[in-house]
Amino acid sequence: MGVKFNKTSDFERGTIFNLLYKAYSFDEKWVQWGKEKWREDDDFFFDNLQIADKYSFITTLNGEAIGFAVYDPRNMPEYAIIGDNCIVPEHKGKGYGILQLHELINRIELNDVRKIFVSTNFDLIAAQRMYERAGFIKLDSSELEPWQVEKRCDVYYCMTVCAK
Ligand SMILES: CC(C)(COP(=O)(O)OP(=O)(O)OC[C@H]1O[C@@H](n2cnc3c(N)ncnc32)[C@H](O)[C@@H]1OP(=O)(O)O)[C@@H](O)C(=O)NCCC(=O)NCCS
Repeated sequence: MGVKFNKTSDFERGTIFNLLYKAYSFDEKWVQWGKEKWREDDDFFFDNLQIADKYSFITTLNGEAIGFAVYDPRNMPEYAIIGDNCIVPEHKGKGYGILQLHELINRIELNDVRKIFVSTNFDLIAAQRMYERAGFIKLDSSELEPWQVEKRCDVYYCMTVCAK
């Protein structure tokens, strides 16, 4: 069966939370930082399955859920923001994260959108490598908009979408 990108609505409530919880469980600090928001996001998407299926998906390997990715379309066509994305520990470091990210970027690019933003933190090394490998360019702090500064992340990236 290999890798597939499935509709979020194919899964049970709690799946998004569980994937994120596991992916960040290498450091309790991240679990404490994120768990309340992950639960709220999980509830939001499973309460709003049309939105979930339009803007997120669950990556499966041989039928097993191994990752999640979502984007925020609310500022399109100016820009889209990549939100939570993760791969569970057993399957990290095997190229699935970048595969999942490419799928997300492809889906975003199907829309009329000029830029894609994403942000992360210094100790999420794999995330930084993954975004840079996908072609995101690191922003200088002088280039940040107030809504980005409010996120209080360490590293901000941008990708300009070529007109199709
Ligand atoms: C970030 C994440 C989704 C990447 O998924 P993954 O399947 O492990 O990543 P891939 O195997 O596709 O590798 C992507 C890049 O990261 C690098 N990488 C992977 N694991 C790494 C690690 N532990 N240390 C350093 N680099 C690492 C890979 O070498 C690759 O870079 P390269 O192409 O330049 O060699 C996953 O590690 C994760 O879920 N992390 C916790 C949650 C998170 O940080 N999400 C992003 C929030 S901004």
